[in-house]
Amino acid sequence: KEIILRFSGLKMKTDEIRERFLRFFKKKGHKIIPSDSLVPFEDPSVLFTSAGMNQFKEQFMGRNITFRRIATCQKCLRTQDLEKVGKTPGHHTFFEMLGNFSFGDYFKKEAIEWAWEFMTKDLNIKEERLWVSVYIDDAEGYNIWRDIIKVPKNKIIKMGAKENFWPSDAPTEGPNGPCGPCSEIFFDQGPDVGCKKSTCTPACDCGRFVEVWNLVFTQFDRQSDGRLLPLPSKNIDTGMGLERAASVMQGVLTNFQIDIFK
Ligand code: ALA
Repeated sequence: KEIILRFSGLKMKTDEIRERFLRFFKKKGHKIIPSDSLVPFEDPSVLFTSAGMNQFKEQFMGRNITFRRIATCQKCLRTQDLEKVGKTPGHHTFFEMLGNFSFGDYFKKEAIEWAWEFMTKDLNIKEERLWVSVYIDDAEGYNIWRDIIKVPKNKIIKMGAKENFWPSDAPTEGPNGPCGPCSEIFFDQGPDVGCKKSTCTPACDCGRFVEVWNLVFTQFDRQSDGRLLPLPSKNIDTGMGLERAASVMQGVLTNFQIDIFK
């Protein structure tokens, strides 16, 4: 019954979502490369790989670029999520992140257009179910969603650097290095989920909206004194939570009900 009520598109297995994602970005000219190790080899700043972009820090700085477009499915562990595991529908000890990356190649417009195309055409998710957020100062991103993708204005939420900057709050808190504003895509599970208030939006943490995909516009190099200097070139770093995408596609309210957990 739950599946019939919440079902948004095709019922799709997790493995198929992963395959479709990589195939989609291969067709868009991306080199598909394997996940990096969960324990990174040469990065003294983290114990575990926490995002698809970790293995590309050099490339974001404009160094060692072999391919300008890459897509991956990255094995991730976020120590900062561990306290949330079991208390929220969508945090894990271990998870997989689908990502497409551009190193000085395409930027905001293509990243947004392709993310929308993948979600609404390949995954066949109804546009009405999708909301987006942008960084409060990112007028360019806002305009692409409104004018090119035609997302209604009331479904484009502007948020601050905690939610819509990667790394979170990087302008004030750091870390130093590549960073930038981001834009997130949310799936609306419907008004009967969560706080049930008519005013609920993705800014509410009641659980109605599932944050599925984060598109980061990596264009700054944060300095120790807090300055955000432009990187040698503009880059794209995206991350879609594979298990969250599967929960949406399988019409269930928590990641723990998807096929790979069963
Ligand atoms: N690096 C970004 C994230 O993990 C895409 O959300």
